[in-house]
Amino acid sequence: MIGFIGLGIMGNHMAENLLDNGQELIVHNRTKAKADNLLNKGAKWAESPAQVAKEANVIFTMLTNEAAVEGMAFGDNGFLNGDMKGKLWVDCSTVDPKFSELMARESEAYHVRFLDAPVSGSKIPAQKGELIFLVGGNEADLKEIRPLLEIMGKAIQYHGVNGKGSSMKLVINLMLAQSMAAFSEAIHFGEAIGLEKETVIDTLLNSPTAAPILKLKRDKLLNNEFAEEFPLEHMHKDLNLVAQAAYASNTAMPVANATKELFGMAKQKGLGRKDLSAIYQYITERE
Ligand SMILES: NC(=O)c1ccc[n+]([C@@H]2O[C@H](COP(=O)([O-])OP(=O)(O)OC[C@H]3O[C@@H](n4cnc5c(N)ncnc54)[C@H](OP(=O)(O)O)[C@@H]3O)[C@@H](O)[C@H]2O)c1
Repeated sequence: MIGFIGLGIMGNHMAENLLDNGQELIVHNRTKAKADNLLNKGAKWAESPAQVAKEANVIFTMLTNEAAVEGMAFGDNGFLNGDMKGKLWVDCSTVDPKFSELMARESEAYHVRFLDAPVSGSKIPAQKGELIFLVGGNEADLKEIRPLLEIMGKAIQYHGVNGKGSSMKLVINLMLAQSMAAFSEAIHFGEAIGLEKETVIDTLLNSPTAAPILKLKRDKLLNNEFAEEFPLEHMHKDLNLVAQAAYASNTAMPVANATKELFGMAKQKGLGRKDLSAIYQYITERE
């Protein structure tokens, strides 16, 4: 039996792919209603994270941030207290690499094996089972769960010891945030000096200067439609993780910090639960 905790945008699709591929699943989420589609397909509901641990051999977590992960892992009803001895915990949440290292040490104290396995790819890749897993931890543990990751993803990258998966994830998201902001500003500039929006977008997307991932955001920007795939507030959180990790390693990150504040301002304006591409809306808004 596989346990899945955290059934938001990403976790729900990931769990659904496991179910659709014949895996038996026990699930838990703070908001039970988000599990409905999975329960209708035969997943079992656990009243607490501890119950997930009791019945599952492997537990996946896909939660917003460190506080949410700690809330589910520890405490009387936490899964680490739920008969996890010898089992494997795979945390797919995007968190500080130091936090992943800490969770690995905490897990060891509970005789639990731990992998950090955050993902690259958003709602649609999660839906299609085309995520890229960035894994840190023991390679033998990764081998054990590789078939499950292959159901949910199209690539599994091993990056080294615990924390390295989370480290790689921050590097990738830093590039994504900066690319998204730079692309938005370039379109805004093009329009301001008299070019047509669609022409600017398509010319940039077909030039080597644009990151390939931006193609996925073309229609959102063109139509000013920013329904969330990757919530903007999560990107703000990730940029904050970048800033923290950079500070801790005595590294100056001027562009990253400016980008972080840009996303923070957009969040402050109420765009937190829109897609990260809504940074275009924030940049282009005029009184
Ligand atoms: N969306 C993306 O494109 C994407 C891509 C790659 C990585 N990620 C990362 O994947 C993780 C999940 O993202 P998502 O987009 O699926 O987020 P989401 O839709 O906001 O879901 C967040 C999940 O965390 C739970 N949660 C939040 N705070 C909690 C708390 N204090 N206690 C218990 N549970 C809590 C939520 O429970 P409720 O349902 O009760 O709110 C939900 O299950 C994040 O770390 C994000 O940065 C996201």
